[in-house]
Amino acid sequence: MNKNIKRDGDTSTKLFDNRSLQTDYSTLIPILKPGMRVLDVGCGTGAISKDIAAIVGPQGSVTGIDNTAHFIESGKETYQAVKNLELIYADVFQFDTTEKFDLVVSARVLQWLNNPVEALTRFKHFLRPGGQISVLDYNHELLSWAPSPPESMLQFYATFLRWRADAGMNNHIAEDLSSYFAEAGLKNIQVFNADEVYTKGQDNFIPRVGIWSKVAVSTQMVEEGYISNNDRLKAIEDYDNWVNREAESMTMVLKEVRGLV
Ligand SMILES: C[S@@+](CC[C@H](N)C(=O)[O-])C[C@H]1O[C@@H](n2cnc3c(N)ncnc32)[C@H](O)[C@@H]1O
Repeated sequence: MNKNIKRDGDTSTKLFDNRSLQTDYSTLIPILKPGMRVLDVGCGTGAISKDIAAIVGPQGSVTGIDNTAHFIESGKETYQAVKNLELIYADVFQFDTTEKFDLVVSARVLQWLNNPVEALTRFKHFLRPGGQISVLDYNHELLSWAPSPPESMLQFYATFLRWRADAGMNNHIAEDLSSYFAEAGLKNIQVFNADEVYTKGQDNFIPRVGIWSKVAVSTQMVEEGYISNNDRLKAIEDYDNWVNREAESMTMVLKEVRGLV
């Protein structure tokens, strides 16, 4: 059973709406061509999908699926004018279609699954012969901040990684993606560095670095006995102060991995 962090609806919708292909999945751009049919698995609100739709153009199409209903509802409203984008509320393991895609993309999704090889096998099912898969994901163990954030957030983050690992999620999945691709029988596997470096003064620096207080909004780890509510609230308060007053940079380590069927 895969586990999804229960997020605060409005906060996470805004967070995902601020994403774009150019900022948050730029290594994908060179393989996108007009006329392509693309499936975006775990598309969130469709913010990245709509940028893919702009590149594949009216002869191409993007189907985004996500198993969080309010992300899909929000995306359908926000991007209703994007004619070659369809957003569907569905779990990738249940979803099916007769359409065969040229490309399946999935950004920051396999990190949440305890069966990533099964997911890749499922992705293959949606592809035409010769089709391609691209997965973008994190190595959460190599996240770094400068200067060091407050101890309360370091504790929260360590607990978060332990909570994820206990649920069967791979905290350094970026490093293992290429072997998962091989296990799923994909060929011509390529790995690209896709680190995200946020530096003070850049657009959206505060919301981007502030992602960890958004993650801490969820009370799920409290309900499951991993952290006290006071420690969680202190982590949010201390971290928000640090982000606004002291933070200079944060680096998130990611890789994009591609393979052919
Ligand atoms: C961190 S978000 C990434 C959203 C978007 N791809 C991006 O990069 O901004 C992960 C998304 O995967 C979705 N998800 C997780 N498991 C899924 C599944 N089994 N089927 C479909 N979507 C799933 C979640 O609902 C969430 O929207």
